[in-house]
Amino acid sequence: MIKKIIVASSKGGVGKTTVALGIASALTMRGKRALLCDLDFENRSLDLFMGIENLPLHNLADVAYDRATPEKAVLRNGKGLSFVPAPTGHENETDALKGYLPASIIYALKAVIDYEEPDFVIFDTSAGLCVPVLLAKNFVGSLAVTVASHQPASCRGAERAASVLLENGARDASLVITQFDSFASLRDARSGLLQIIDSSSAKLLGVVPFDKELMISHERGVMAPADSPSSAAFKNIAARLCSENVKLFSGVRGIKKKNIF
Ligand SMILES: Nc1ncnc2c1ncn2[C@@H]1O[C@H](COP(=O)(O)OP(=O)(O)O)[C@@H](O)[C@H]1O
Ligand SMILES: [Mg+2]
Repeated sequence: MIKKIIVASSKGGVGKTTVALGIASALTMRGKRALLCDLDFENRSLDLFMGIENLPLHNLADVAYDRATPEKAVLRNGKGLSFVPAPTGHENETDALKGYLPASIIYALKAVIDYEEPDFVIFDTSAGLCVPVLLAKNFVGSLAVTVASHQPASCRGAERAASVLLENGARDASLVITQFDSFASLRDARSGLLQIIDSSSAKLLGVVPFDKELMISHERGVMAPADSPSSAAFKNIAARLCSENVKLFSGVRGIKKKNIF
């Protein structure tokens, strides 16, 4: 069975794209085949994060409107990761795609998934819940992965996403806390982990520390170093998605565990 993951929050800038890419890459390191679908029609960024923005990319709208086959629209890295881009902002049809998914885009997604037959499909979505809800309705039984950064407003955005997606067809909702700043928690300058976990009804899937190396990697369009703190956190998340039990911070360096709860 292909497992489908909807990465969502009603808030922007919390780390959804980072989590989608981190999870997809970590799954492929475990030998799984992951299809990453960019559904951020407003402001796609996965191509930038991966440094492939200058490639002549086809996108989901090309499949939807029969300008490209699924085979042509999908990029593959040869190591298990495949990627289908969202339409770019200047395309005329983008206006028609904003805020909702027409049947043709759902058809395109299904065609790409059928063609690729991955182990996991990861949908990266824009801020807001219109696109995630349509995905949940059309891919019933998906797992909602909600994302909160170390800010109260983003916890609210994750919680809202969890409850709305569960009402609309998601089988379960989990929470990834990202950009977690353990040093500030230690000083009581920012909320502790328990406070963030307590603000969510979703199950904790993992905690990704604030990782400057990761942020710079995104800006340069290269993958984060395999030994970076965030890479270890994403490996742990991938293990849990494969039903393996691992300790919360297994292998994650730079986290000050004492008192962060
Ligand atoms: N764990 C992290 N550590 C450091 N920077 C991060 C982390 N997660 C995300 N970022 C940075 O935060 C910014 C927003 O992340 P992004 O994934 O684009 O959010 P969203 O998709 O929710 O808009 C990006 O510059 C990204 O590099
Ligand atoms: Mg994004």
